[in-house]
Amino acid sequence: MNAHRTLIWDIPTRLFHWLLVISLIAQYLTAEVFENAMQWHFYFGYFTLGLIIFRVFWGLIGTNYARFSQFLYGPKAIIEYAKSLLIPNAPAHAGHNPLGGVVVILMLLLILLQAVSGLFMTDDIFLDGPWRSAASDSTLDIMGYLHHNVFNVLLAVIALHISAIVFYAVYKKQKLAPAMIHGKKSTTAKGISSSRLILALFVAIISAGIVYYVVEIAPPESEDAGYYY
Ligand code: HEM
Ligand code: HEM
Repeated sequence: MNAHRTLIWDIPTRLFHWLLVISLIAQYLTAEVFENAMQWHFYFGYFTLGLIIFRVFWGLIGTNYARFSQFLYGPKAIIEYAKSLLIPNAPAHAGHNPLGGVVVILMLLLILLQAVSGLFMTDDIFLDGPWRSAASDSTLDIMGYLHHNVFNVLLAVIALHISAIVFYAVYKKQKLAPAMIHGKKSTTAKGISSSRLILALFVAIISAGIVYYVVEIAPPESEDAGYYY
């Protein structure tokens, strides 16, 4: 079968990807660079949490190549793929390749951990994360440790992710990044017929609802009600 240009990454997956990149940069800037930006750090944190929840649903009911079942492979396939990594003209995968799939899951898990641990943080001035007052001291210690350290691991995995994109472009002559922008790839595989935008909108509303519940409704009342966000 001849290669043809076809849609692989739906609009929701592409939007998710670039909003996640923007949101993580904003999270870094509001925590480490800008003064007095902690309230924005919280808001972007809730938004990031919503993005991850959206992606989990989309990985279950989204379009073909966005589904976890499309890019979660067993150890054998992952090792086989790793062995062929340095063969420049090894066949390309239309969706995430077996190794890329592992890195994607790792990034999603680390970002989820970072966002959830954030819910227990305090800026030691005015702002407490919504679950802070509900947690025991030992839970707060663990969450504090995670929030201060997971981000560094995440940075290393993101560096690996971007290096892999460069490696594929330079060594394997496969340009993956443009497909994350316009969605299309030249491949012999069957593309998707639509981005299923109505379904994505519905999933986005549900995800926003879950974040609202976790941040606003579920947390127990704080004793310092005035400084409770
Ligand atoms: C904060 C930085 C970044 C994070 C956290 C991140 C995260 C992710 C995630 C989670 C996916 C999986 C997408 C999905 O299936 O939903 C992905 C895929 C991808 N990302 Fe990134 N990304 C980052 C930066 C970048 C940059 C700067 C580029 C472009 C140079 C890029 C290019 C891609 C491409 C091309 C894919 C698809 C890979 C494939 O074909 O298998 N990413 N990224
Ligand atoms: C994925 C989302 C998030 C990312 C990437 C992120 C990232 C970061 C980073 C890099 C720091 C600086 C850590 C350090 O100095 O060692 C930080 C601090 C902080 N974050 Fe987040 N965060 C996220 C979500 C949240 C959320 C949802 C909240 C609260 C609702 C939150 C509350 C805080 C607070 C209060 C601090 C200051 C802690 C301190 O100075 O000890 N974060 N965050």
